[in-house]
Amino acid sequence: MTEDVPEREARSFELPDGENIFVTQRDGMFFAYKNICPHLQVELEFLENQFLDQDQEYIECSTHGALFTVETGECVAGPCTGEFLQKLAISVHSDGGIYLS
Ligand code: FES
Repeated sequence: MTEDVPEREARSFELPDGENIFVTQRDGMFFAYKNICPHLQVELEFLENQFLDQDQEYIECSTHGALFTVETGECVAGPCTGEFLQKLAISVHSDGGIYLS
């Protein structure tokens, strides 16, 4: 639900198949990615739901500090610069539900 993901925060979710994803909100838009860093294929967060950097500007990998844009998932700093997080297509329904498309 949209209310579970406040502006400039992120929440992780486990899909029925066990896959780990996270959703974040920026300027009223929602973005979802697989929770896998393209550098070493590990999960991004160290603490629960801590997917953003200190300024809550970028998605940050806790292992080596790679920074990814919220909107596209492109790595703009760190060891995997130029690579992308795996983005998931989602849609927000009028009931406030966030659905994978
Ligand atoms: S594992 Fe994510 S930056 Fe190295």
